Amino acid sequence: MQTTLKFRKIALLSALSVLVIAGCGKQQGKSGTKKPLSATAAADSAAAAAKVPYALKEGKRLYSHYCGVCHGETGDGSGQYYGLTPTPANFTDKAFMKTLPDDVIFKAINEGSASVGKSNMCPPWGKSLNSEEVEFIVAYIRTLAGS
Ligand code: HEC
Repeated sequence: MQTTLKFRKIALLSALSVLVIAGCGKQQGKSGTKKPLSATAAADSAAAAAKVPYALKEGKRLYSHYCGVCHGETGDGSGQYYGLTPTPANFTDKAFMKTLPDDVIFKAINEGSASVGKSNMCPPWGKSLNSEEVEFIVAYIRTLAGS
């Protein structure tokens, strides 16, 4: 009994310290982008954020975690959930990406694909991700067509 309690305490403490370390890393990245970003300014500054390595790294991590299953790790729309109709957007298609401004990508992620006149197959992520995280993903998606 005593030992399990002690073990739990240690487990909890180490879990907390991981959170603290993760939190610090995030803070550092935020200060790197200088001023805090509002939701409306977020899409505009996505291009600027693309120049910040932290934004791309974080965007890549979030993309792999939330989006890769459908959009594919490389962004070509061939995730593990194949057979989706319509097929997930292909972010490696240069011509298609040219038709897709940052603010539309931002809105599609934040409010779901239905919000930009598409099907409802892409869920809204605005409740799970904050606008800065969405902006990081937009910046990362922009790199997938090799531009
Ligand atoms: C359950 C599968 C699924 C997941 C998970 C998913 N998507 Fe999608 N997404 C789709 C499908 C399917 C479409 C195509 C919708 C259409 O064309 O009607 C799409 C379309 C899009 C579009 C394009 C909208 C347009 O104008 O063509 C963007 C941008 C997008 N997704 C971003 C994301 C991002 C970023 C994530 C992760 C945070 C994500 N999606 C997660 C399935 C998914």
